[in-house]
Amino acid sequence: MSDAPPAAPAALRPRLDATAYQALTDAARRDPKRYWRKEMGRLDWIQTPNEIFDDSKGWFADGKLNASINCLDRHLKQRGEQTAVIWQAEDRDTNLHLTYRELHARVCRMANVLRHQGVKRGDRVAIHLPSVVEGIVGMLACARLGAMHVVLFGGFSAEAIADRLADSGAVLAITANVGRRGAKRIPFKVTMDAALALRPDALAVRTVLVVEVTDDPVPMQAGRDLLLAPLLADASTECAPESMNANDPLFLLYTSGSTGKPKGIVHGTGGYLLWAAYTQEMVFDHQNGDIFWCTADIGWITGHSYVVYGPLANGGTVLLFEGMPSHPGPGRWWEVIQQHKVTTFYTSPTAIRALMREGDDVPARYDLSTLRVLGTVGEPISHDAWAWFDDVIGQKRCALVDTWWQTETGGIMISPIPGAVKEKPASATLPLPGVRPLLLDEKGYPIEGAGEGILCLDGSWPGHALTIWQDDALFKTTYLAPYPGHYFTGDGARRDEDGYYWITGRVDDVINVSGHRIGSAEIEDALAADHAIAESAAIGIPHDLKGQSIVVYLVPRHENADGLAERAMKIIAAKVGRYAVPEIIHIVPDLPKTRSGKNVRRLMRKIACGEREGFGDLSTLADPGVVKVLIEIVNRGD
Ligand code: WT7
Repeated sequence: MSDAPPAAPAALRPRLDATAYQALTDAARRDPKRYWRKEMGRLDWIQTPNEIFDDSKGWFADGKLNASINCLDRHLKQRGEQTAVIWQAEDRDTNLHLTYRELHARVCRMANVLRHQGVKRGDRVAIHLPSVVEGIVGMLACARLGAMHVVLFGGFSAEAIADRLADSGAVLAITANVGRRGAKRIPFKVTMDAALALRPDALAVRTVLVVEVTDDPVPMQAGRDLLLAPLLADASTECAPESMNANDPLFLLYTSGSTGKPKGIVHGTGGYLLWAAYTQEMVFDHQNGDIFWCTADIGWITGHSYVVYGPLANGGTVLLFEGMPSHPGPGRWWEVIQQHKVTTFYTSPTAIRALMREGDDVPARYDLSTLRVLGTVGEPISHDAWAWFDDVIGQKRCALVDTWWQTETGGIMISPIPGAVKEKPASATLPLPGVRPLLLDEKGYPIEGAGEGILCLDGSWPGHALTIWQDDALFKTTYLAPYPGHYFTGDGARRDEDGYYWITGRVDDVINVSGHRIGSAEIEDALAADHAIAESAAIGIPHDLKGQSIVVYLVPRHENADGLAERAMKIIAAKVGRYAVPEIIHIVPDLPKTRSGKNVRRLMRKIACGEREGFGDLSTLADPGVVKVLIEIVNRGD
């Protein structure tokens, strides 16, 4: 007998079509409460909400639930033996398949350890880990106890971590001895120690739990630090979950805005979880048997919503990969897709651009025929990257979803829906049912039909963030005050004659480097503390690979500025993180300012981009001569 024929490539079998999309959109617009009353049935509630939405009380105000029940317990009966998480280690031969039953047991053990360490409902727990299973387990364990997790991106510096520990008031931190990046070892614990030593009085961290990712030695402080593995081994696999109000916070996650201080975005339990589940199913056409791989670090919102909460609430199987895209070779990601038969692959335009450069022959060596849906997020995707993803990776048979959203929206807002919303290359296309974008002109008047303007959102949606941690006033001034009656996204967008949206990028002082949000003020505040620096301005300019790169104009305090640029780079790496280090620093005598003293970033951006004319009316500048000086300096390249 001959061998069985190879399986046919995965075909799209979407469950929504264009008519269904329109019907859902109309229903959500006509009667949002009725629409969401039906949709909330996606979740298991301990107490089903009667109140759907109220401006002051928010979403599902009288509902009670627990997110970990929704991601774990409720699946045990139907799919207890199904794989919930596949962990692929940095080294090829190590991987782990955890069933829902096993993940449930691990989460309960972890929750019991946390409880034993005194973590209570409402407490904050910091998680600073590489891509290992304990990250997911830690998050769900917090959810089980009603404690808020505060996941800190692996790339943060010790100072950035200390700031966030102080602001959140975290009582416990989970970290690792090291993280693996190819052959390199990233000293997570040492960085955490440095963070804790920076401000011993301001920090509430009592306990540090350490995951041993490798057998590398790890410094431990008696009375504070504990190895996690033995505690987990001793803990019970049962842990009673807390009953949480729908608007009790599930987590807080730091993101950057136009102020120097990082903002702790707070998401609630019911609305957020519903939004993660709703969008994950709709946008990625989630089906039984899917292997869902979102490459984001769990330290970003993408990791929260699409590595953890969305796919697990839907009973899916997620892949978590510890390694990098091109280690040990440029085909590593494609190898992972082949090895684990990934059906759904969600990544960033930056990663696609980098992999594209390796040449088409690299992915051609792997079997990518299991792929069905491909997604991107975090920054605008260029036409060539979109076409390459569609053609070379998707082999023209996959749905491509360019998903626009933000930390604050909780989940995807504007995106194609496979089978239902036709793609246009490089467009985020149309809002999901229940999302109402609008474009405003500079004066705040709505733009009808085709046009370009400031992207705002009308009305609320269940994934809407609750507030900024300990700064509700800032939440209101940042998002609700700029255009009263609407939520201000900070992005600009164009709408074409078909109503499709094309995101043009930030309209505020936020720089987007490789999909990472960095506030100009974060960099400027870090530099302002240095006695040799009088003033600085950080701006973003287009970059082939990273989307944007950072340029800093720096005004020295003293005549002798020798070595100042290098020093500024070091300061930024230490205070913010390596990911925020600028590409170029220009040492300049002054910055272009208005007469009222405001930096004119528009001009600095143009000059940094190499433009030499078309600067418009310079007469409003305090000193128009500065422009010529800056151009000379940028031309000279110093
Ligand atoms: C900002 C939000 C949402 C998870 C990852 C980033 C930019 C996001 C797109 C897209 C163009 C995009 C926006 C947005 N952005 N997705 N598909 N096309 N730009 O979350 O760190 O909160 O950043 O990322 O500028 O405001 P975030």
